[in-house]
Amino acid sequence: MTQRTVLVLNGPNLNLLGTRQPEIYGHDTLADIEARLVARGAELGLSVECRQSNHEGVLVDWLHDAKLRGVGVVLLNAGAYTHTSIALLDAILSTQLKVIEVHLSDPEKREPFRHLSYVGMAAVDCVKGLGPDSYMVALERAAQL
Ligand code: DQA
Repeated sequence: MTQRTVLVLNGPNLNLLGTRQPEIYGHDTLADIEARLVARGAELGLSVECRQSNHEGVLVDWLHDAKLRGVGVVLLNAGAYTHTSIALLDAILSTQLKVIEVHLSDPEKREPFRHLSYVGMAAVDCVKGLGPDSYMVALERAAQL
């Protein structure tokens, strides 16, 4: 594992992409998005590793593990944990990982409870509101870090 590795972490309910509220999140599945990220990563000389969990502590564990393995950049769509998880905020602060926050939708244009982002308090960048392309733009930015 090296600095040229990008870890893509997706949080709760993102395993349901494709069928989950397609009017908000589109029709692509998470597997579709991950395949595009891996392919583009190869073009950029990046090893892209993708994981998804519905469990907050698992995401925390994966951030710790990423630090130990020397992962260069993490693309993190923490789903609803974005707006609730001080544990994820602390994990990013504790590991000092370079995390780019990613969202398919633009949470700031949605319900007020989505306007607060704990992840955003420690992330180095944020890409949102572009649908699946949010991940692709985030990967391009990761390549520049
Ligand atoms: C999301 C936005 C969050 O508010 C929501 O809870 C999600 C998905 C997005 O990608 O737009 O699960 O992170």
